[in-house]
Amino acid sequence: MVIYKAKDYKDMSRKAANIISAQVIMKPSCVLGLATGSSPVGAYKQLIEWYKKGDLDFSEVKTVNLDEYKGLSKENNQSYYYFMYNQLFKHINIKLENTHIPNGIAEEEAAECERYNKTIHCLGGIDLQLLGIGHNGHIGFNEPNQAFEKNTHCVALTESTISANSRLFENAGEVPRFAYTMGIKTIMQAKKILVVVSGGDKAEIIKRAFTGPVTPSVPASILQMHNDVILVGDEDALSEILL
Ligand code: GLP
Repeated sequence: MVIYKAKDYKDMSRKAANIISAQVIMKPSCVLGLATGSSPVGAYKQLIEWYKKGDLDFSEVKTVNLDEYKGLSKENNQSYYYFMYNQLFKHINIKLENTHIPNGIAEEEAAECERYNKTIHCLGGIDLQLLGIGHNGHIGFNEPNQAFEKNTHCVALTESTISANSRLFENAGEVPRFAYTMGIKTIMQAKKILVVVSGGDKAEIIKRAFTGPVTPSVPASILQMHNDVILVGDEDALSEILL
């Protein structure tokens, strides 16, 4: 694993955006695995800026997102589709038909998981997967568990995730209780993984995930087994693992 220490959120975002840009420049038709949450927003802003300057071209890029709330449609302003469209897709020249996110309002849960697995498989897998980490060590919505779930599945969100994500809703009662998420095997099959973290509130989980035992009770700990992980964090988030 390579660790880049950033001064602050802005610096972290620039460093992460540089790595994503390099991927897009080296392989214009690459498959990017994308994430939602506060951590990647700054990197998306930076990519948009470089695109507007003419430095980046997303016309052949394909994307697959990690997760989506069950029960929310694309038009719902709390859905991850809405987030991705507004934080990134609508500002760049990506073709919307090349962007993929689980369908939160699919009628059949199992069929939707199967469809999403196939979509990723047909694209040939993920070249670069961007990840944030939840306070309990979740990646995507792979919550702490007895075993690592391999493929796309529907999960019951934990109270800690519901409470962390409630900051983006009117109140905790509005946070969906279930979500679709890419599985751990699919994430681990990405050729390269870029983790972005900021803030002292993530320091403890970063220590557990990257220096503790590999266990499904800390899903991000599996990343220790991947041979090409880049962790970009600000000083506060990395304070427990770097002197
Ligand atoms: C959410 C998302 C994750 C994200 C995590 C951390 O639950 N499903 O994909 O990585 O929270 O979010 P944040 O970056 O806002 O701390």
